[in-house]
Amino acid sequence: MEDKQSIRGLNFSRTIYCGLLRPEHEGQDVTLCGWVQRLRDMGNLIFVDLRDREGITQIVFSPERPDLLEAAKKLRPEFVVSVKGLVRKRGPRAVNKEMDTGEVEIEAKEMRLLNVSKVPPFQVADPVQASEDLRMKYRYIDLRRPSKQRAIKLRHEAALRTRNYLSGRGFLEIETPFLAKSTPEGARDYLVPSRIHKGRFYALPQSPQTFKQTLMISGFDRYFQIVRCFRDEDLRSERQPEFTQIDIEMSFADREDIFSLVDGMLAAIFDVIGEKIGLPIPRLTYRESMERYGTDKPDLRIKAELTDLTAEASGLQSEIIRKVLASGGVLKGLRVPQAAGLSRSQLDKLGEKAQELGAKGIIWLKKQNGFKSALKLEEAEARTIWEKSTARDEDLVLLVADRREVALPVLGFFRKELLQSQAGKDFAFTWVTDFPLFEWSAEEKKIVSVHHPFTSPLAEDIPLLESEPLRVRARAYDVVCNGYEIGGGSIRIHDFELQRRIFGLLGLSEKETEEKFGYFLEALGYGTPPHGGIAMGFDRIVMLLAREESIREVIAFPKTTSALCLLTGSPSQVSEKQLDELGLKLKK
Ligand code: AMO
Repeated sequence: MEDKQSIRGLNFSRTIYCGLLRPEHEGQDVTLCGWVQRLRDMGNLIFVDLRDREGITQIVFSPERPDLLEAAKKLRPEFVVSVKGLVRKRGPRAVNKEMDTGEVEIEAKEMRLLNVSKVPPFQVADPVQASEDLRMKYRYIDLRRPSKQRAIKLRHEAALRTRNYLSGRGFLEIETPFLAKSTPEGARDYLVPSRIHKGRFYALPQSPQTFKQTLMISGFDRYFQIVRCFRDEDLRSERQPEFTQIDIEMSFADREDIFSLVDGMLAAIFDVIGEKIGLPIPRLTYRESMERYGTDKPDLRIKAELTDLTAEASGLQSEIIRKVLASGGVLKGLRVPQAAGLSRSQLDKLGEKAQELGAKGIIWLKKQNGFKSALKLEEAEARTIWEKSTARDEDLVLLVADRREVALPVLGFFRKELLQSQAGKDFAFTWVTDFPLFEWSAEEKKIVSVHHPFTSPLAEDIPLLESEPLRVRARAYDVVCNGYEIGGGSIRIHDFELQRRIFGLLGLSEKETEEKFGYFLEALGYGTPPHGGIAMGFDRIVMLLAREESIREVIAFPKTTSALCLLTGSPSQVSEKQLDELGLKLKK
């Protein structure tokens, strides 16, 4: 360890990152600092691959410096060293085309061992050979992998572009509290007990929604914030309990202003990876999106659309279909190219999945030596469905006869599931507009907001608010990329009376409204400008930039799908004393 000690006082600072060395640096003396990726000991020659955040470079220790050669022999993976040396070009046979720095190498002239390392639990390399749990426990080692270093850098770049873009358009970044009050975004709150006011709790914000609207009332007519939000909800690959939004709000703005602002911002962000987004981003209404793709977050890289066969269905003999149509249902179809070969048991599995999703089942139709179907169909009937679905031999047609709300999402699910291979590597964006304002919650047995209760209804639908609330459309929009919802927002209610009316429709008593949103309703009465905004899911955007499948891969310290941090071991128990101070007692 003598070497490790002697580094103090030595001027041994890096002159260039390992990963940035190129033939143009030939002949230069450089100082590199990094981690040993691997070591090849050829006896009188040692090659060490040294890694830093920009990449890897090869260092050569030769017999001309026996002292260095001896020292190099002791190096092991993940030891930290600093090396001074001469950049030289590799001979033609030694060039490594796989490496960005593969045309050069460093002839070592001095080396300092800065620190040793225990044997790492897995090798720092892509693709990684370790379970996700192990990677999360040793996240600091996992993050050394080139793909992770790249993802975290992309994240920084994307944040920088966002800030420059918005700041350049007059938006001010303003922080809002984390120790806050519940804001309704549809998830459970994370609560923080107050020590000073025992029995009272702060809620970590699910979003800065009410604060940003309050800022509009204060006259900060263009606000943004790259901000952490907290939601206690079921986690998936694209959901974390704490995640980051690019939160935006604008006064005196309508939907078009938000669309063009966000179009430009996404173009600026995706430019980080050299991706040119076609602008303007196309738009679909919620209804169109559901009818054509069976989802409000369509992956438009998949070209296939659902077919409406309700008109054709009215001519079918089938008793089952007649019943569905008589009760106002629909017949919807999906052509799955080249899927006639699916076995009976595979088709049964699709049927089971459809039932899980709420349908009575799924009807399949094939054409192999004549039509074959799970449903009894005359030849002419089958042909009509086949032709309307534009199916060809070797294709499979899946049909669902049910209520529209069931048939569309079930086929939407199979469209995504079975046609995924049609989705190429590029990016397909779309706006989805005119969402319903409310939906029925079977759990709560009442109508609830699709977005949040501050969303403005479309002016022409306001007369329907009391009589047919489920038909009222909202001035709300989502932006979707490759089947992921990457942002959502709306034009807000700025009229105090309308806001009160909406709370009433949502079944909130005056008392509850007062308790939950008293301050906000009060503020709305003091000259609120018309305003609207959006929040973008920053982690999801970076996940797409990094071409990863999970946002956990682009967050430095994510939680598992059961909301654990395997690195630090949170959540953890606290002492009796801490509970006492907070006036809390755990239930046995
Ligand atoms: P919304 O709830 O749609 O809107 O959230 C905006 C965007 O945030 C992302 N997102 C998430 N990302 C990771 N993990 C999560 N748990 C998670 N939840 C949401 C999504 C989503 O589109 N206040 C409103 C915005 C507004 O009206 O301006 C809001 O939060 O990409």
